[in-house]
Amino acid sequence: MSQVLRFPDGFVWGTATASFQIEGGRPERGDCIWDDFCRWPGKVFEGDTGDVADDHYHRFREDVALMAELGQNAYRFSVSWPRVLPDGAGEVNEKGIDFYSQLVDELLAKGIDPYVTLYHWDLPSALQRLGGWAARDIIYRFQDYVALMADRLGDRVKNWITHNEPWVVAFVGNLQGRHAPGWEDLGLALQVGHHTVVSHGLAVQALRARAGADARVGITLNFSPAYPASDSPEDVAAARMHDGFANRWFLDPVFKGHYPQDLWDAFGYQVPRVAPGDMELGSQPIDFLGVNYYTRAVVQHDASGWLGYRTLRPEGEYTAMDWEVFPQGLTDLLLRLTRDYGATPLYVTENGCAYEDVVSDDGQVHDPQRVEYLRQHLAACHAAIAQGAPLRGYFEWSLMDNFEWALGYSRRFGIVYVDYATQQRIPKDSARFYASAMSRNAIEV
Ligand code: FCB
Repeated sequence: MSQVLRFPDGFVWGTATASFQIEGGRPERGDCIWDDFCRWPGKVFEGDTGDVADDHYHRFREDVALMAELGQNAYRFSVSWPRVLPDGAGEVNEKGIDFYSQLVDELLAKGIDPYVTLYHWDLPSALQRLGGWAARDIIYRFQDYVALMADRLGDRVKNWITHNEPWVVAFVGNLQGRHAPGWEDLGLALQVGHHTVVSHGLAVQALRARAGADARVGITLNFSPAYPASDSPEDVAAARMHDGFANRWFLDPVFKGHYPQDLWDAFGYQVPRVAPGDMELGSQPIDFLGVNYYTRAVVQHDASGWLGYRTLRPEGEYTAMDWEVFPQGLTDLLLRLTRDYGATPLYVTENGCAYEDVVSDDGQVHDPQRVEYLRQHLAACHAAIAQGAPLRGYFEWSLMDNFEWALGYSRRFGIVYVDYATQQRIPKDSARFYASAMSRNAIEV
């Protein structure tokens, strides 16, 4: 017997993308650190680049039409900083501003509410040459750039996200070296992270001052809910450590105005330099929290591992990213955020999966695993709402296949397939499933 799970009236249904991953239009913008990183031999799969990507810069009207056909009432995209300020500061590229302005108009004309992310990793190369996120001055450059966007789009855009996944910016880009700018230094990574927190605070102020009284401002964090491998005290403590590193390191500064003490102690002399007033700036009240969830971590004590633990690979189902499919983790996470960080409205700003999609002989893309992934994770959202989580919306990652960072075009996350040779878009079966969920405001399980 199937059951219908209905979402609250006014639930926000969208898809998400990011500028570097879809836009292309490289000659029409300044360089960013991902352009540089793509040319660093061995860093990005097969030397793929963002030069063309989905050519969304030239095809955005067609893409918005597709969104309208799917029936989404919201769309999360990011602004490319070097498209509007090619040198990161100073001279404005009016054509770049026009692009976002027209995109916003096109969305609004189709009844789709824009959710604008201001930083989704494409830092202008000109600013990286001055030290990038590691140099404190960046916080003021970010503030100026955010003020510019608030001035130009604030009359129409009401939902703003300052940063996407500062954890990834800090640690994947500056400790693990797997993302731009590619460094491997803990102290540097922690300083970078701190500057994202302070710049978030300055951006909140700029948006409040300039984007209109009805502007709503939030930040998107990524999460890795930690489950101890056993109930031994060692594994429980190890899971707590992972939670501190992966989740609380940014949650606590943003919501509580301090770094988590356990991790601060663990990082020793590498902790970031914090100037007077920084923590107050970083923890100003915000209107919502964006939640990116893909999978969980199962954590085991290991004295020889980073921070005294390692993560295991439990039996189960895995996506093409080798990420475990674990929908319960999303319910647990949403409830935990509600419990430990107050009843801030929540949005799932990313959730989705990569599989090895192919175009079948019938010209269609059949992706039953993605349909199931979405169904189960939407059910997990529904369960969290039923238990009191103030979840207001869900953005599926991603609208269409795109440049998956260090993995280039080798991983397909879209509910719409992109043939990169022709730029043809083919809605997958999962797009039809998602469209029906959105139109009914309900799923069947
Ligand atoms: C997130 C990123 C997003 C996308 C997904 C798969 O970490 O925010 O751009 O690459 O992972």
